[in-house]
Amino acid sequence: MSDSTAGIDRLACAAVEPVRSGMTVGLGTGRAASRGIHALAQRVQGERLRITCVATSRRSAELALSLGLHVVPMRDVERVDVLFDGADEVEPGLAMTKGAGGAMTREKIVADAAGLRLYLMDESKLVGRLGERFPLPVEVLEFGLAATSGALRRLGLTPTLRLASDSREPYLTDEGNLVLDCAYGETSRGDLLQLARAIDGVCGVVGHGLFVTQADIVLIESADGQRVERRERH
Ligand code: A5P
Repeated sequence: MSDSTAGIDRLACAAVEPVRSGMTVGLGTGRAASRGIHALAQRVQGERLRITCVATSRRSAELALSLGLHVVPMRDVERVDVLFDGADEVEPGLAMTKGAGGAMTREKIVADAAGLRLYLMDESKLVGRLGERFPLPVEVLEFGLAATSGALRRLGLTPTLRLASDSREPYLTDEGNLVLDCAYGETSRGDLLQLARAIDGVCGVVGHGLFVTQADIVLIESADGQRVERRERH
């Protein structure tokens, strides 16, 4: 929740605090990241910062452009200085589930190119272990759907094809791929890094929302929006 009375969005301000003139900034996707994009645009305007942005989705690119930010295609960018993004679940060790909005592959590409990765969320995203509230989204090529689903099942996951919210048609990512939302089973609940690598190794998988080591800093907003707790990877 933002502090509307004082006009201060503490979470969003904390997310963009590391940004300095000359930096390339990664823009995440979703509600929390959108708040960060607004806060970034305010800083750029107020402090006349000269920054370049890359967006993790079409909708974040559109929002950033509408606010006057300079957005370039990620295909031309090798290194990103700082990324802020949202998440769907985070464990005490800072492993996260991402991809409720379908942007997980682009989000991971930008995260893996970024020197500093901040993830912003409210307290409701804190879980004891991943899978409590969200399945794990896996982006796959349509060509191998049945075979890829079978391979994921053999890793102990239970995949369900995501449908578009406004129709019975399959949901498509910005890259035009399908998403399998995968429930964890007990056999898939061992070493998360090992599971992430195993999913990466399945032919037909384009990307997935298991972010085990990406979060450098997690910013957690209290329910009343007044406090922001900062947790860092040690
Ligand atoms: C996009 O695919 C997701 O990974 C988002 O980053 C995530 O869903 C963000 O959640 P909020 O919309 O709650 O910030």
